[in-house]
Amino acid sequence: MGVMIERLKTNRILDNDEFIGILETDRYDADLYAEADRIRREYYGTDVYIRGLIEFTNHCKNNCYYCGIRAGNENVLRYRLDKETVLDCCDNGYRLGYRTFVLQGGEDSYFKDKNICDMVYEIKSKYTDCAVTLSIGEKEKTSYQEYYRAGADRYLLRQETSNLEHYKMLHPDSMFFEHRKRCLYDLKEIGYQVGAGFMVGSPYQTYAHIVQDLKFLKDLQPDMVGIGPYLTHKDTPFSQFPNGSFHLTLRLIAILRIMFPYALIPATTALGTIAPNGRELGLKAGANVVMPNLSPVTVRKQYELYDNKICTGEEAAECRGCLERRVVSAGYQIVTDIGNVRKKKRNGIL
Ligand code: 5AD
Ligand code: FES
Repeated sequence: MGVMIERLKTNRILDNDEFIGILETDRYDADLYAEADRIRREYYGTDVYIRGLIEFTNHCKNNCYYCGIRAGNENVLRYRLDKETVLDCCDNGYRLGYRTFVLQGGEDSYFKDKNICDMVYEIKSKYTDCAVTLSIGEKEKTSYQEYYRAGADRYLLRQETSNLEHYKMLHPDSMFFEHRKRCLYDLKEIGYQVGAGFMVGSPYQTYAHIVQDLKFLKDLQPDMVGIGPYLTHKDTPFSQFPNGSFHLTLRLIAILRIMFPYALIPATTALGTIAPNGRELGLKAGANVVMPNLSPVTVRKQYELYDNKICTGEEAAECRGCLERRVVSAGYQIVTDIGNVRKKKRNGIL
């Protein structure tokens, strides 16, 4: 096995040059994926957790330059789902075996803290064996505390990039890396299972930036790490930039699995969009989560963060069946389980 992988395995962190060495060459790929898969099996066996994603609002006050539903995009048909619709999605999802519901949306001030708490509370009361994950952006700590008290278990907030200069190139002046970081640490302090992550190959990103992201994650110690390739959206200021690299994303999934053996790492929709078997290969590279869509098909197309997003025409049940086959073909199986993080190796007890 490559000396570098051996070093990564023992230290779970590398010097900048060493990291860059792994990122820029495909020489280590087979060893990297084999080691990542060995570790994922040590902690999770062949289990793959599914999360039902409910994209409940595509209104957003922000204007991130990479994102298709940014406030400035006037071509988006905006929608909001009411509580009853969200609960219907959960109902459908529960019957299909989902035990985690992810409420994701843009930063939409129409939904007050109370509305979010009501939704969370109702879902948690109705499905006592399920987890609720929120992914609704940067908020005050007091708001995060209220959601947590209402029953939210997990929170997803990708840092997107950990380099200050790069952050400014991806976001307008109204957004601050420091605030995003503060949010992530607040969430951890409150007790959430926290997910962070970044896009691979976003405009102006360098290998050095990616290394900074890996180091940022090492400090944060998140329970979940979501990464996916950057994908172009035609109605953004970045419409002329190419997609990120599929293989670099796979390599980074493997590196993340080795760095964070216990982590919940999704094979993302973006990965399935950039390559037809992207999610299967993501799983083989160390991912252990998939997050299919539970939103009503009528609004799917309107939550287009990037062009050609997959699964926008399929009903939840179709996605569930499709994924089942894909996961099995990769050598794993979907389990009906709340899918909490496993901090210890499997030893028959866990
Ligand atoms: N390509 C890939 N991923 C994107 N996201 C937003 N826009 C894009 C894009 N154009 C990701 C961001 C965000 C997550 C919900 O989707 O990382 O955190
Ligand atoms: Fe949605 Fe395949 S997972 S159609």
